[in-house]
Amino acid sequence: MSESPLTSASQKALTQEITKRRSFAIISHPDAGKTTLTERILRAGGAIQMAGNVRAKGERRRTRSDWMGIERDRGISVVTSVMTFEYGGCIFNLLDTPGHEDFSEDTYRTLTAVDCAVMVIDAAKGIEARTRKLFEICRLRDIPIVTFINKMDREAQDCFGLLDEISAALALDTAPATWPIGRAAQFVGTYDLRTRATHFIAAPLPDDDPRMVQLAEELELVEGALPPFDRDGFNAGHLTPVFFGSAMKEIGVTDLLDALVAYGPAPRAQPAETRDVKGDEPGVTALVFKIQANMDPNHRDRIAFARVCSGRLHRGMRLKHVRTGKQFALHTPQFFFARERQLAEEAFAGDVVGIPNHGTLRIGDTLTEGEDLRFTGVPYFAPEILRRVRLDDAMKAKKLRQALVELAEEGVVQLFRPQDGLAPIVGVVGVLQLDVLQSRLKAEYGVAIGFESTPFTMARWITGQDKVIEAFSQAQRSAMADDIDGDPVFLASSAFMLRRTIEMTPDLTFHDIKQIG
Ligand code: G4P
Repeated sequence: MSESPLTSASQKALTQEITKRRSFAIISHPDAGKTTLTERILRAGGAIQMAGNVRAKGERRRTRSDWMGIERDRGISVVTSVMTFEYGGCIFNLLDTPGHEDFSEDTYRTLTAVDCAVMVIDAAKGIEARTRKLFEICRLRDIPIVTFINKMDREAQDCFGLLDEISAALALDTAPATWPIGRAAQFVGTYDLRTRATHFIAAPLPDDDPRMVQLAEELELVEGALPPFDRDGFNAGHLTPVFFGSAMKEIGVTDLLDALVAYGPAPRAQPAETRDVKGDEPGVTALVFKIQANMDPNHRDRIAFARVCSGRLHRGMRLKHVRTGKQFALHTPQFFFARERQLAEEAFAGDVVGIPNHGTLRIGDTLTEGEDLRFTGVPYFAPEILRRVRLDDAMKAKKLRQALVELAEEGVVQLFRPQDGLAPIVGVVGVLQLDVLQSRLKAEYGVAIGFESTPFTMARWITGQDKVIEAFSQAQRSAMADDIDGDPVFLASSAFMLRRTIEMTPDLTFHDIKQIG
């Protein structure tokens, strides 16, 4: 490693900075209140002056990421944005994730960059399909989960029932951190089970108010029957503290933020091929988890979002780009605030910085101060939809090739070049990704395309000895393609065909997930 060891004073200062970092994402089923909660959190953190900057009145999803027509038209958030704010002496990075499940790959990558997730549940609906899926993704990485049961100002399910449902549906222990005071229209505040403090939105209620009487009765049950908060269980992703609230009425929002301040978690160790990298190691390391081009339609820029995984990153420093072995100068790293970008002078483990570049950086890339280290855990999933790209204007073939590579590097779609030389095939997990590809090719590259079906329904990366792969590729020429890194991919027409091929080819391994890096 090229970094010099820190003196104990500067190591202490570094550790202090890093333990202040809180990087999290909010996961939820559409309509549970993620946008509203985001607004309220940002407002509590002073990052926006008034609610409504995240979503303009009457419209959904008006974050600063709404640069894309498709996103506005369809009312979905396609891209991930990062919002940074301070609260309670901590620096928070809130990483937004796309609401629609067709962009779940993007969500997965974003979750590799957070230390914790806030799971928002609609109090009337309980655990819904998308919540469950997103939770499963968090579980794969043991990401600690904080639960926020939202919309308590409306008719809601019974609180004990909701806690049971979370435990049963997600196999996750629940420890209520707060308890609601009053229900539906009578919901006026929360009781903190750890500090025994009450928080009211208006004047405190007298003890003989029926809502306080109900609270006292319920607390007996809660304290007798439910486990207390256990920090180790939380950090390991086994137990979730539960908060009750109403994002709309701003009840329970500061309870949630205060808990994130108190319990964190601070930046977790990030897994790499050779070892786990701890946040407070002195050497800088960073992981690119997201690429986004043309955020500003007036400047064709390309921003790599990188999570700083260890150390202190500062402007002007040179880092090693491990995939290529080349030096990479950080001239203009950027922080992303709720409303505008700012030049970053320094960033610490847990922070996310935007690094403008011209295509050098790719998803899954590692930057270090010299160590040959590769972070793991940023995957490509085998696409479930495969389409051949049909070019309307043959004169634009070269432009299309370049554009497809750029957009595939960004993770918009996966690109497969058939070994038989036919037109490229794109693979996606959700069909909306195809719409995004089509509209971006038109808007940003001036290339009109259509899609044609292919005989293929599944793709698998293959690994094995070179000569075995070569012989297999010869035999299966019309079903073989190379992915964007030149890795061989077998395309199967059905699950049956795939099973048969796997059985008949014991010397090769077929993968439905490819680790990048
Ligand atoms: P999402 O990002 O998870 O999809 O949810 P979003 O915040 O957009 O909220 C979905 C709907 O639920 C919105 O109503 C929002 O106002 C409402 N909502 C969010 N939090 C609460 C809450 O704590 N209590 C109540 N009663 N409602 C809440 P909408 O009618 O779809 O939109 P709008 O007209 O209010 O903008």
